[in-house]
Amino acid sequence: MQLTCGVHSEPIQRLRSDLLAARFSVDVLTRLWGTRADAALHRGQRVPASRALTGPAGETAAGVLARIFVLGMPVTAGQLAVALPELGLDGALALGLVSVDGDRVRAVLDLRPYSFVDAHGVGSWWIASDLGELTVGGALREDHVLGVGGASLTLSGLMVGGTVDAALDIGTGCGIQAMHAARHATRVVATDISPRALEIAALNAELNGIRNIEFRLGSLFDPVAGERFGQIVSNPPFVITPRADGVPSYEYRDGGMVGDALVASVIDGLADHLEPGGIAQLLGNWEYRDGVDGLDRAGEWVSATGLDAWVVEREVQDAALYSETWIRDGGTRPGPEFDRLYGAWLDDFEQRGVTAVGFGYLSLRATTRGLRRLERLDSAIEGGLGVHIAETLAAWDWQSALTDEQIGREHLELAPDVTEDRHYWPGDADPTVMTLRQGGGFGRSLPLDTGLAALVGACDGELSVRAIIAAIAQLLEVDEAALSAELMPSIRELVTTGFLRPLA
Ligand SMILES: C[S@@+](CC[C@H](N)C(=O)[O-])C[C@H]1O[C@@H](n2cnc3c(N)ncnc32)[C@H](O)[C@@H]1O
Repeated sequence: MQLTCGVHSEPIQRLRSDLLAARFSVDVLTRLWGTRADAALHRGQRVPASRALTGPAGETAAGVLARIFVLGMPVTAGQLAVALPELGLDGALALGLVSVDGDRVRAVLDLRPYSFVDAHGVGSWWIASDLGELTVGGALREDHVLGVGGASLTLSGLMVGGTVDAALDIGTGCGIQAMHAARHATRVVATDISPRALEIAALNAELNGIRNIEFRLGSLFDPVAGERFGQIVSNPPFVITPRADGVPSYEYRDGGMVGDALVASVIDGLADHLEPGGIAQLLGNWEYRDGVDGLDRAGEWVSATGLDAWVVEREVQDAALYSETWIRDGGTRPGPEFDRLYGAWLDDFEQRGVTAVGFGYLSLRATTRGLRRLERLDSAIEGGLGVHIAETLAAWDWQSALTDEQIGREHLELAPDVTEDRHYWPGDADPTVMTLRQGGGFGRSLPLDTGLAALVGACDGELSVRAIIAAIAQLLEVDEAALSAELMPSIRELVTTGFLRPLA
């Protein structure tokens, strides 16, 4: 099955012009209900926002659209007709956006504004998805099509934005990653096993005037057999779910495999579908099994591909916390059903000796320069990291192509977001702890010893690395060659992670 945008093109264009006229945007909604109600909505609570819309604010076109499509409250046919004058109630019914229940009109789909900053700058779209738990008021359908969630934002923020001919989004859901990729790819192929997801994604692309996405039905790489892409992105259904009777299997998060095998399968297929030099970026979970470190397990998956790879582990949850998180995510509240599912989750983990589950991001590149980074990064990150990821890969390429001798001839400077902490025992002249901190990127911090602190402090681009090391060796009264050999791996690491950079 192959879907293209434009199936209901004309009514979607009418909807678009109504949403524009209503000024149905993130900023306008925040102005209507205030920042506290906005924060409550992010916590899954709609009462403050619905109270703010009981007065005149709720009668504006944006207010009516927010009530029905964001808060899941019914409105009258008259109110909807005023809010969507070009599309009208019949058009909204035909598009499958609403249903009529007596004199009330109810949302069938969630539809909300979405604003973002990605590698190409700021933008805003409207995104349709299935109604969330707030509106449904209970457990979700197994074929639920997810809107833009935390994981979606993580991946879209990580996406590097270099121009490519073709990009692939596996498990497109509401289409959000494909739409971001469409900003820098000439064409995007978006796949999913859910026909409903593809219909909704096609609606979203058309609603936002994005016409370079082709939607294909099928599992993982099946719909793209024999094809290669300059970029592959995937927020795959990585949630580990017991394969037991009576445990719901949500399409949006569960790929139907045992344990973390789905993520391993996606990684396994990348080498056959990336063009030379192409990049894949995914999110994933990995199990900590029988004393085997989960990040090392992810490292084995990427090593088997032969591709250059960088895996970042952001979080580790013990098996019990992981189970609670995902049972709750499906809309099941604490009670007997929750306890039954909890037991099934723990049984499943116990069978495989799983004690914890790691979450993180994987970047794989179809180059063979020997990049194999496995990192744990737990500092809070704000905003998109796509630019930083591209810069890190380029910096790794730069330093790995140079011998120690050549690096010695380079002039390096400190990045402007770097600061240094020094801690002293009271009364001591010398610090006991020195730490280098990065304000941007992954917000890394690195411990410094005396030699490295002296080197970093002298990196203002004026002297070559070799000249700085020679001066430090003299000062510390140590052998220059030995100091250089000791510092070189740290210099390479500081360049790769963006603390130091070569003078342009
Ligand atoms: C976590 S959602 C991601 C949705 C969207 N890409 C995002 O970032 O928000 C995973 C998606 O993968 C789809 N999916 C599940 N199993 C799949 C499979 N075997 N092959 C392709 N897609 C699959 C689901 O239907 C769902 O839309």
